[in-house]
Amino acid sequence: MIFGKEKKGFPDNFLWGCALSAKQAEGIDGRGITVADIQDYDPQNIDKVKGDFSKNEILLRLEHPENYVFPKKNGIQFVSRYEEDLQLLHELGINCFRMSISWSRIFPNGDDKYPNEEGLAFYDSIFKTLNERNMTPIVTIYHDDMPINMALKYNGFLTKEGTDYFMRYALVVLNRYHHFVKYWIPVNQINLTRIGLSSLGIIKDTVSDLQNAKHQAVHNKFVCCAKLKQSALLIDPNIKLGTMSADFYVAPHTCKPEDVIFATEKNRLTMFYYLDVQLRGVYPEYILSYFEENDVIFDVGLEELDLIKENTMDFIAISYYNSNTASAEQNTYAIGDSTPNPYLEANEWGWSINPSGLLNTLIHCWDRYNVPIMIAENGFGQIEYLDDNDMVDDDYRIEYIKQHLKMIEKALNQGIDVFSYCLWSPIDMVSSGTSEMKKRYGIIYNDVDDSGHGSGKRVPKKSYFWYQNVVKTNGRTL
Ligand code: BG6
Repeated sequence: MIFGKEKKGFPDNFLWGCALSAKQAEGIDGRGITVADIQDYDPQNIDKVKGDFSKNEILLRLEHPENYVFPKKNGIQFVSRYEEDLQLLHELGINCFRMSISWSRIFPNGDDKYPNEEGLAFYDSIFKTLNERNMTPIVTIYHDDMPINMALKYNGFLTKEGTDYFMRYALVVLNRYHHFVKYWIPVNQINLTRIGLSSLGIIKDTVSDLQNAKHQAVHNKFVCCAKLKQSALLIDPNIKLGTMSADFYVAPHTCKPEDVIFATEKNRLTMFYYLDVQLRGVYPEYILSYFEENDVIFDVGLEELDLIKENTMDFIAISYYNSNTASAEQNTYAIGDSTPNPYLEANEWGWSINPSGLLNTLIHCWDRYNVPIMIAENGFGQIEYLDDNDMVDDDYRIEYIKQHLKMIEKALNQGIDVFSYCLWSPIDMVSSGTSEMKKRYGIIYNDVDDSGHGSGKRVPKKSYFWYQNVVKTNGRTL
C-alpha cells in the first residue's frame, strides 16, 4: 500500500436525499392539533411566532383561530399530495428520504386510549411507496409537533406522564414500521432547547423556574432515547438510532484569549454536552459544574443514568445551515446568542454562508466520537418567484449546495464516515422559525404565499435538475 494515493470521494452506498418534517409539510387533515399549529404568521411581528406562548396565549389561539394565520396547519398538503411529491423525488433519483411522523396523527391528543389506525395506515403507504421507489427512509419520531393536549395537560417532556405518553407513541411506530425503517432519529435537534413549547412542550407561565424545567425536560428526552435504544435491540437489532444536533458551533469573534475560551466553552454547553451524554453515555463534569455554578437543579434517577450509559446512540445527525461567532463581551452562553461573522455573506434572514463551517463540525464530531454521521439538513432559504418560463433560476442555491457537498467530499477523503446527505428541502415548505412561506428552501417550487393563497402547483427549479445530476453521478460532477 502506498500512503497518499487514495482519494475516496462519495462511497457507492452513499445515501443522497432530501428532508422534510410533518409539521411543515403534512397539513392538519386526519390528525390532532399540535403545538406547531398555533404558531401564527404575523408579518408585523415576525419574532412573535417563535412559539413560546403563555397558557392564555395558547387558549386564545385555540378559541379564536379566525384572528390568526396558522400556516403550519395547512403545511403544503403533503398528506394528500404525497404520491405526486414522492414521484417527483423518485424522478430526482435520490435514494433516501428523511421525514418525520406526526405524533398527533397516531395519537391525536397524545393520551388517547388507542392509536389511530388511519394515521398508522397513512405511514404504511408512505413507507410502501418509498420502498417501491428504492428510497431508504430516515425517520424522526418527534420533530417539534406534540399534540397541544400534551402541553396543556402534562407540560410535555417535563413530566413523567408526558414522557410516558411519548414513549408509548414511539414504541407503537417503532414496532409498526421497523421492517421498513432502519434509521431513526428519536428527537429533532435535541440541543435546540431555547423554544420551550415547541421542542419541549413546556408552557412557560406554568412552571416556577423555566431554566430548571428545560434541563429536566431535556434529561427526560435523554432517558426516552436510551429506553428506545433498549427496546429497539429487542424489536429489531438492525435498527439504528441517531442523536441529532443543530449545528451551533461558534468561532471566537476575535483571537483575544477571552473570546477563544468563551467560544470553546459555549460550544461545549450548546452542542457537545448533548452529544457527550448520548454518545459517551455520561453527563460530563463540565456540565455538572455549570449546573452547580448556575443553580440548575433537576431530578435524575440513578437507574436513568445507568440506562443512558448502557444505551448510547449509533450515529450523529447534524443540521447545518450557517455559522456565527461568539464574543465574550457581547454574547451569553445561550444557544443562538451569537455575533455575525464579518467575513461571511448572509441571506435575507441573516443566515450566513460558510461551507467550511460544515467541515469544521464534521472534524470535531468525528475526532470526538468516531461514529457515523449523517447530514440531516442543509439548505438555503431565499425569496423566489417563478419567471415567465415557469422556472426559478436558483444558481445561488446550486452554489450553496455544491460548496457544502465539496466539504463533505473532503471529509470523506479524510476518512470521516459521512453516510448520508439530506437536502432541506425537497419542496418549498412553511418555515419552522417564522411560519413564512417566502423563506423558500425547496429545489421544487410550491406556488403558495405567506397567507396560504396560491395553486400549490409544484415546479422543479434549476437546482432540482442540477442535484439530479449530482446524485446520478454519485457526486463526481461537483
Ligand atoms: C431546522 C429545523 O432547525 O431548521 C427545520 O429542523 C427548519 O424544521 C430548518 O425548517 C430551517 O429553519 P427555518 O426556520 O428557516 O424553517
